[in-house]
Amino acid sequence: MTFRILAVNGSLRTGSSNGGLLRLAERLADEWFPGELAVEHVAMITDLPWYNADLETAPPASVGVWRDLVSAADGLWLGMPEYNFGPTALIKNAIDWASRPIAAIPLTGKVIAMYTSGGKGGGANVQQGLAPILGWFRNTVVADPPVCIKLGAERIDGDGNTDDPEIREAVGAKVAAFVEALRTR
Ligand code: FNR
Repeated sequence: MTFRILAVNGSLRTGSSNGGLLRLAERLADEWFPGELAVEHVAMITDLPWYNADLETAPPASVGVWRDLVSAADGLWLGMPEYNFGPTALIKNAIDWASRPIAAIPLTGKVIAMYTSGGKGGGANVQQGLAPILGWFRNTVVADPPVCIKLGAERIDGDGNTDDPEIREAVGAKVAAFVEALRTR
């Protein structure tokens, strides 16, 4: 069985290290679990307007595209930079759009892994803050082993190239745990 995975980066920065973590995860998944994960890197969350409940009766086309992608996915990989101890507005906005309509929540029943390249602290706060929110929507958040890379922007590039074994090891362990969670859900 091939699982459909959305890879979504919360950073817009050219050469984003969080985007690099997602690219590295995809390469390791292809190496270790060939054909098991079909990973789609989703950039269109930048097309989403800011969440506005007034738009729910007739949401813009981009919202429908995003919701359909999430509904059809088996899992999500979130590149999750930590900005001021929390998620970037970009990714939180995408989560908010995918958390509605309440009667048919797109972001539910998914297996989710977060990969963070942060500052000196590695960005653990953002993952600790988001995990219960994603769990509340009955998603399986693969929190362990964590990927919280200290000063990641200096250690991995936007294409996922790194000569740091610690990063490769952490991302690989996360991918393996993620695949196990998919297989057993
Ligand atoms: C940051 N950064 C940061 N890091 C961290 O570990 N905790 C934090 O609270 C913050 N706060 C913060 C706020 C703002 C506005 C910026 C721009 C940055 C550092 C940030 O997480 C880090 O540079 C990431 O590596 C950026 O990810 P990309 O752009 O390389 O994917």
